[in-house]
Amino acid sequence: MRWARHAVPAAVAALAAVATRDLLQREHALRRNFPLLGRARYLLEAIGPELRQYIVAGNNEERPFTRDQRRWVYASAKQQNNYFGFGTDNDIEFTPGYPVIKHRTFGRAVPASTPTLGHEVRLPCAKVLGAARGRARAFRPESVVNLSGMSFGSLSGPAVEALNRGAAIAGCLHNTGEGGLSPYHRHGGELIFQLGTAYFGCRDDRGRFDLARLKDVVAGAPVRALEIKLSQGAKPSLGGLLPAAKVSAEIAATRGIPVGKDCVSPSRHAEFSDCDSLLDWVELLAAETGLPVGIKSAVGDLDFWTELTDLMRDTGRGVDFVTVDGGEGGTGAAPLIFTDSVSLPFQQGFTRVYATFAERDLHEQVVFVGSGKLGLPDNATVAFALGCDMVAVGREAMLAIGCIQAQKCHTDTCPTGVATQNAWLARGLDPASKSVRAAHYVKTLRRDLLKVAEACGVEHPGLIDTDAVEILGGRTTSTPLREVYGYRPEWGLPSAADRAAIAALMSQEAPQGGSATPSPTAQN
Ligand SMILES: Cc1cc2nc3c(=O)[nH]c(=O)nc-3n(C[C@H](O)[C@H](O)[C@H](O)COP(=O)(O)O)c2cc1C
Ligand code: SF4
Repeated sequence: MRWARHAVPAAVAALAAVATRDLLQREHALRRNFPLLGRARYLLEAIGPELRQYIVAGNNEERPFTRDQRRWVYASAKQQNNYFGFGTDNDIEFTPGYPVIKHRTFGRAVPASTPTLGHEVRLPCAKVLGAARGRARAFRPESVVNLSGMSFGSLSGPAVEALNRGAAIAGCLHNTGEGGLSPYHRHGGELIFQLGTAYFGCRDDRGRFDLARLKDVVAGAPVRALEIKLSQGAKPSLGGLLPAAKVSAEIAATRGIPVGKDCVSPSRHAEFSDCDSLLDWVELLAAETGLPVGIKSAVGDLDFWTELTDLMRDTGRGVDFVTVDGGEGGTGAAPLIFTDSVSLPFQQGFTRVYATFAERDLHEQVVFVGSGKLGLPDNATVAFALGCDMVAVGREAMLAIGCIQAQKCHTDTCPTGVATQNAWLARGLDPASKSVRAAHYVKTLRRDLLKVAEACGVEHPGLIDTDAVEILGGRTTSTPLREVYGYRPEWGLPSAADRAAIAALMSQEAPQGGSATPSPTAQN
């Protein structure tokens, strides 16, 4: 046993060296937070497919995001090979509701032939946000893919910083979420400031909305638009409570609340109580800040939308954008009955809302934003076909900065430092490297959307129409998307003028593909 006297200390020293290396490196939050132990995940990830094939779940079984979906996000974020081999393992033939995108053989746009081309291509919105209502600070958003609202408080400071820096690199908008505008939001990324029921960051000492504070916030940061949050798909109609233990000095300062006391978000707004007073408030905010103003909502009862659009048509007041959040959307914490069963899934909710605007000829004057697992190219393509002008991505961006879908966001024990206020865990997330991953992910999604658009023969995803998608009913039947949702021709597209403008813009932007050199007998 003499050998053991040398071998054991050597092994311990080696393990200590590896642990120290894990602790000091910045690339992997999991290894930084859980030296040595964190490595087990990478090992399991490497041999997982072989193991799972026999004992656990398939590539498309996990939820909210399947393993294939997560692998695509992770690989895109790390700029690794995000292709899949051997063909689809989705059960296309036998899955009713499966969307199929119909490419065109000879379209007017042709995808670039080199796979990586297009990664840096701008993909701006096909509509100018706020133009229809003449807002002083109307603008064309630079990116059709933007970061959805997730507050500092539900996300850690480093996570918010990584997303904000990522937004700056990718040239997209970063929604603050309802928790106010924190120092972590001030790293160069342009912002949409969200106003929730508690008016965090723009409230007075008694919790009332304070217009002067809002104007200060807007003037002191690159805020490009305001979003009034009516509800979110994962927990519509619910307020919230941030427990005293989580109300740190930093969170208190950002939100404008006292340190170390329970912080309640009411379930309803105090500044308006119906569509009429909502529209008055929208016009007030737009007039006072010059910014485009929109609403974010999940979809349940349709009375709200019919009343809102009737008033917009009849009175000339109106919202500049509408974000429809699907019931499949995410949250930091919510009761199971709400995450599982309250509010319509994205496609059903969005199409009802869109039709309400379109029936009153308002659809071309409003920018439609979709959210609810739309950070994946197939879902996003269908959303654009249905009339979305932009998508907002939440959890997919979290995956890009290291989330492993452990689903512990509500426990403050997030192992990757993304959704926690625990200082040790949050420290593991390095904002500098993760911001690059967030940006790569956004750019890759944009590139894939551009390629799909071009495969459909058009220059931009906003020009994909409902006829380009069919919904399979199983192996032998399918229905055009237009019929599934009762759309009229031209619904789902921007106005003719906006279509011409974005096609012209993209033809200067996107590298076009083509054939190899034709033979002398080619019939061009
Ligand atoms: C951790 C977390 C925090 C969130 N916080 C907010 C919020 O403050 N305001 C909001 O409107 N939505 C919030 N959401 C919802 C997202 O913005 C988004 O609408 C939803 O997750 C659907 O998008 P996804 O499927 O891409 O995640 C949050 C979601 C998550 C996962
Ligand atoms: S707790 Fe899990 S699901 Fe939530 S952010 Fe952290 S890793 Fe992701």
